[in-house]
Amino acid sequence: MSVKDIGEENLLDVFRICSFNRLEDRTQLKGIQMKRRWLRQMMNEYGPRTKIAYVDTTPIAQILFYPEEAVPYIPHQREGVIIMHCAYNPFTNFQRRGVATALVESLVNDSRMGLEILEGLLCEYIVSKPYEFSEGTALDRLYSGLGFIDGFGEMYREVFGTYKPQELTRYTPLYEDKDRAVLLYEPICEWNYAHMLQVKETLQEIAPNLKVDIYNSWEQPDQSIRRGNQWLVVNSFPIKHYITDLGAFKKDVEEALID
Ligand SMILES: CC(C)(COP(=O)(O)OP(=O)(O)OC[C@H]1O[C@@H](n2cnc3c(N)ncnc32)[C@H](O)[C@@H]1OP(=O)(O)O)[C@@H](O)C(=O)NCCC(=O)NCCS
Repeated sequence: MSVKDIGEENLLDVFRICSFNRLEDRTQLKGIQMKRRWLRQMMNEYGPRTKIAYVDTTPIAQILFYPEEAVPYIPHQREGVIIMHCAYNPFTNFQRRGVATALVESLVNDSRMGLEILEGLLCEYIVSKPYEFSEGTALDRLYSGLGFIDGFGEMYREVFGTYKPQELTRYTPLYEDKDRAVLLYEPICEWNYAHMLQVKETLQEIAPNLKVDIYNSWEQPDQSIRRGNQWLVVNSFPIKHYITDLGAFKKDVEEALID
């Protein structure tokens, strides 16, 4: 097994991992197109931000990371902090063999040596929000095995600095959000596009006349900051559950619409 940084020559390998079973799906291809544009733009600006694990020439797992300072919708970015957005090894025959561990350790090693994406700054610490997923090892379990510690709404592993929690953002009801839905979209994962369509459809099923406005948080960060970075606001209420938890999501939306 080998680990490589992403470059123009292996950029498409990311999708052979994360979308390995959806490469013919038109909706997924649209999400891939949007992520590819984002990734290329970010690579040109900051350098490599994904590591890919290979067995021979087959890509099998990846991690995605970036400096917190690259995220336009975080109001008070912490200098020298790396966000590890996700780790993914979808291939059961290669799971539990140390592949994701090797990817994260490679990132930690590079952080000690000096990461190109930090443009000369020392890496203070690496943070990650381990979200729940139904396959493989749970991310929080993987991270704690790799020395990550529970922080404030995230896990962290210190490199040269001492952990400082990120400021919490909150949604303060906006008059302009009454009687409409505002969905914040991030192109950093190709699955987000399909999820966004599903959210829109589900909202329209529940309330056919509801206006749904969608903003790309990376291109219109002011829209995200104004809403305390809440991923979805319906009738001035932030929606807690994600669309993957459909029953709870619908309940949140129905409650938001009653008020
Ligand atoms: C989390 C994930 C990335 C782990 O990938 P992986 O390559 O299997 O990870 P590793 O092999 O390094 O470690 C996983 C486990 O295998 C164990 N392990 C590592 N090397 C091993 C070896 N040689 N033999 C046996 N076990 C081993 C680790 O200790 C760890 O154990 P645990 O489950 O008891 O904590 C993978 O399961 C996954 O993708 N899960 C879904 C995560 C997700 O939600 N991603 C976001 C989607 S975009």
